[in-house]
Amino acid sequence: MSILISPSILNSDIGNLAGELNRISNADWAHVDVMDNHFVPNLTWGIPVIEAAKKYSPVPIDAHLMIANPDRWVPGFVEAGADSVTFHAEAVAAPIRLAREVRAMGARAGIALNPATQIDDYIDILDEFDMVLCMTVEPGFGGQPFIASVMPKVARLRELINKKGLETWIQVDGGVSADTIAQAAEAGANNFVAGSAVYKAEDAANAVDTLRELARS
Ligand code: DX5
Ligand code: ZN
Repeated sequence: MSILISPSILNSDIGNLAGELNRISNADWAHVDVMDNHFVPNLTWGIPVIEAAKKYSPVPIDAHLMIANPDRWVPGFVEAGADSVTFHAEAVAAPIRLAREVRAMGARAGIALNPATQIDDYIDILDEFDMVLCMTVEPGFGGQPFIASVMPKVARLRELINKKGLETWIQVDGGVSADTIAQAAEAGANNFVAGSAVYKAEDAANAVDTLRELARS
């Protein structure tokens, strides 16, 4: 399965959104974190910023919705131009209906699991999703340390996906850096979100390439 690097713009210089997106033109996706101060104790931005990011991004937009009541909001994010929309298992009321709606609108559907959320409830419905996001920090903030104890869940998920012959991506998000990406790749993740590790680097594009190399080796 191809290795994909998805820098998170959460801690980028958002006043220069177009420029920050262009710094990562060699990435596979741009990850945009939406927070509502209900599902997570932080507040970021919404649909207008997705529209702006879509307009200026050289790469597809991966919207990660850390919001309550995603059932209400997800279609609007697809309309705004998100190429992939991920909503949280802990927040969604009707995950299958919502994923089908996203796919019917032509985008990829992702389901996100907090570090303590188990995969058992999703095993039989994995084919409804294009991606499972295994959070490797508690959602809400960039710059937190990677929670390595999530790796057995990633490994079990990869085994199940392979056994079922599915193409489902496994994304990891939180604390992914040159020091941690190899263990996530080893466990079976193929899509890596990295915020600080990319945007704090002097040369963001080079950081993307380095992460890709480390995930492949
Ligand atoms: C955390 C967000 C992440 C965050 C990652 O809630 O979902 O996407 O931006 O940032 P780093 O890579 O700094 O942990
Ligand atoms: Zn995220």
